[in-house]
Amino acid sequence: MKTKTALGGLIVSLMIVSGAAFAQGPTSVEVFKSPYCGCCGKWVEHLRKNGFNVVTKDVDDVPAARKVLGMPERYGSCHTAKVGQYSIEGHVPAADIRRLLSESPKSIGLAAPGMPQGSPGMETPTPQPYETLLVHLDGDSSVFARH
Ligand code: CU
Ligand code: CU
Repeated sequence: MKTKTALGGLIVSLMIVSGAAFAQGPTSVEVFKSPYCGCCGKWVEHLRKNGFNVVTKDVDDVPAARKVLGMPERYGSCHTAKVGQYSIEGHVPAADIRRLLSESPKSIGLAAPGMPQGSPGMETPTPQPYETLLVHLDGDSSVFARH
């Protein structure tokens, strides 16, 4: 009886360990961007430095890609991306994406609308405060993080 319980416990802990290892593996991000946008490339570098496995697709029509991913146009930035079931719009910090994936709220995803000065890929000596928005399934949003 005792051995059986111990074995059960071992199997459970093995499952937890392999689950954790899986969660820490590289997360894939698919980025749709204009080939002429320098800051998009710098944001991609930021994601790679933070351990994401990024595939980029140059597209002529970023708004069309945004629409396909389900991100409302009013949150638009210069590039749009897909991570798992989520859309990521604009210069969202890698840490926010990690938090989104770990909390996994029911939502469209995250957006940093416009091109906030000082966001990842938009480095400048004069950064401005900006917000990362959580975009809800109904298209509304709430503040996810302040930077
Ligand atoms: Cu940009
Ligand atoms: Cu961009």
